[in-house]
Amino acid sequence: MKKIALLLFAVFFIGPIKAQTINGVNIDALIAKMSVEEKAGQMTQIDLGVIAVGDICNLKNPQQLDKDKLKRALNDYKVGSILNVGCGSGTIAVENWRSIITGIHAANTSYKNVIPVLYGVDAIHGANYSMGATLFPQQIGQAATWNPALTEQLNAVTAYETRASGIPWNFSPVLDLGRQPLWSRFFETYGEDVVLASSMAKAAINGMQGKDVNSSTNVAACMKHFLGYSFPLSGRDRTPAWISDRELREYFLPTFKTAIDAGAKTIMINSGEINGTPVHANYDILTTLLRNELGFKGVAVTDWEDIYKLVNVHHVAATKKEAVKMAIMAGIDMSMTPNDYEYTDCLITLIKEGSIPISRIDASVRRILTLKTELGLFNTTIYPSTQYTKFGSKENSDLSYRIAGESITLLKNDRNVLPLNNAGQKILVCGPAAQSLNLLNGAWTHTWQGVDDRFNTKGKLTIYEALKQSMPKNTLEYAKGASLDSLVDISECIKKAKTADNIIVCLGEKPCTEIPGNINDLTISSAQQQLVNALLELKKPVILVCCFNRPQIIHSISKNVDAIVYGYLPGDEGGRAISDVINGKINPSGKLPFTYPSAVNAFVHYDHKSSEELDIDFSNNAYRPEFDFGYGLSYSTFVYSDFSVSNDTLLKNDSLVVSVLVKNTSGIQGAEAVQLYYHDQVASITPSVKKLLAFKKITLQAGELQRVEFIVRATDLSFINKTLQRVTEPGMFDLLLANFKSSFYVD
Ligand code: BGC
Repeated sequence: MKKIALLLFAVFFIGPIKAQTINGVNIDALIAKMSVEEKAGQMTQIDLGVIAVGDICNLKNPQQLDKDKLKRALNDYKVGSILNVGCGSGTIAVENWRSIITGIHAANTSYKNVIPVLYGVDAIHGANYSMGATLFPQQIGQAATWNPALTEQLNAVTAYETRASGIPWNFSPVLDLGRQPLWSRFFETYGEDVVLASSMAKAAINGMQGKDVNSSTNVAACMKHFLGYSFPLSGRDRTPAWISDRELREYFLPTFKTAIDAGAKTIMINSGEINGTPVHANYDILTTLLRNELGFKGVAVTDWEDIYKLVNVHHVAATKKEAVKMAIMAGIDMSMTPNDYEYTDCLITLIKEGSIPISRIDASVRRILTLKTELGLFNTTIYPSTQYTKFGSKENSDLSYRIAGESITLLKNDRNVLPLNNAGQKILVCGPAAQSLNLLNGAWTHTWQGVDDRFNTKGKLTIYEALKQSMPKNTLEYAKGASLDSLVDISECIKKAKTADNIIVCLGEKPCTEIPGNINDLTISSAQQQLVNALLELKKPVILVCCFNRPQIIHSISKNVDAIVYGYLPGDEGGRAISDVINGKINPSGKLPFTYPSAVNAFVHYDHKSSEELDIDFSNNAYRPEFDFGYGLSYSTFVYSDFSVSNDTLLKNDSLVVSVLVKNTSGIQGAEAVQLYYHDQVASITPSVKKLLAFKKITLQAGELQRVEFIVRATDLSFINKTLQRVTEPGMFDLLLANFKSSFYVD
């Protein structure tokens, strides 16, 4: 009787016990009906290679579903997620994607599975696995624009073009901080600074997921790779990182926290180890920090084969079964297994024998089903009525061109050799990157490593082609001179150079990522150095164009060339954008999102500690990068004046206003990223000499004057202290903007 009374009380006064219903799907009711096999299937992700015709790494081209393999995946294993394009294969035409995705959906329904399959893909700089999609500059170039609004726009386009292929999940953005220039994935980061990278992270999530991730034009984002992946001590991918908890929180956590707060739906885990523990087996990082502290509610997916790697690479588990238990108990929701079903078999056994509590499994399945409902997978047809007429459109490639144009960073321009806008001149264009779309795009371009030029987007121009087209009043000539690693017809190149008025040398780096991109020496190849040096001997203006995966050391040539145009990996419109910076149609406004090292053993960041400036003669000159973080020239000149700070004291919950006037004193329109830095004079953790506090990119017409204001709150000056708390300590601080400096007290 008492029980009935209690129940009635609950129904009338508290309301019915709430079931989790999203977009009309009652997730708890679904979970209650699922078998152990179905739950394990939902936590499994396989590669397209496992269900396609052909051998796993030698698929029939174009990729095509194999009925029997599909039956095994969806009927026998109830697989919940599939990814990418198949090991060793490349980009897929949109119509082909459509038949793959619809084929999976139809098979899934025919096996009476009520839960739809979630397809995920690496759309890293545009929908790079969909033929003819718009390819944007890689993330490092996006950061160099210092214009997060552009990052938001390009992610919206990437989402749209990914959905056009029926794919609702993108393994992007990379939120690892680029503080190790040797690392093969440096170009995939938003650079070395927490503030700049965090603002790009937020923009990327907003652009990709939009207001409603369940729309036909948005996709779920995946923050990569949690946590500390980008800072291996050796610089080689997936090798040990030694990072204290304090540094993890100070440098590597904020981008992820920002993205989680922006509503990012999924996260991928760091393949490597930190302080001796592989992250895939680290409960402290995957549960205590990610779930309990940061409150992340989305799906945590492993990186490629990483549960097996706990056995065969990291040696922390003796068997795959032990590894599965370790990873799931640490906090993994879904395993990118991705080439077999051993993981799934182990998981089923572990659940059935009670080694993993069903409550732990249900928590993961709930997150996966929540994502699927949020994405609208249960109640929409895979292909909504949207026609995707903007896929690969001119509008989208214009955006790519604009972003490439804003990213390109003019690092040197002696005697204003650039722009080359005199008619009637002879210009020689040479070097390995002059006639290559692959070297402009880098890895994750049509294929994983981006080295196969069979798939290149039709109609895109190389640097030489774009220069030739855009400078009809000049004579443009081409000679390769050198490949990436050897001289090629150098005598022909020198012969043409002798009669040229200007020489443009386009240097590059082989597209690569992850372990295939590991290098031992950051120095530009000797063939490319030799080419530049041979051309320098002619005593003609030499303009260097650099398209690198990471800042290759160019110290031996940088001081002798007349101009340096740093292109990063500018994507399919990079040829046009670089060419228009050279001919002056684009006024450069990119600024380095990293400190450019001048020597292979001198990786010091701009926000270094004072002790890192002490030179061998005890002067303060040891910090000598090739180019500083935030550096970049323009064809305009900007004059800063009237710098002011509203108060000389800042109270804990208060803010102050920093203001400065910026004038474009040149005769052409230009854009400037105004950068505000601060320095904590005394702190319990050694303070950096300076740290970026805020930035604003403004565009000024010729002669225009604009006031730029920044609001500074005490919390903006915080850091992680010894007890891992984020604090702002009272004391004196300096604000630094251009050549101005002002001090104030934080109470
Ligand atoms: C990479 C991830 C990528 C995944 C799927 C891994 O090897 O580290 O960044 O998303 O493969 O392709």
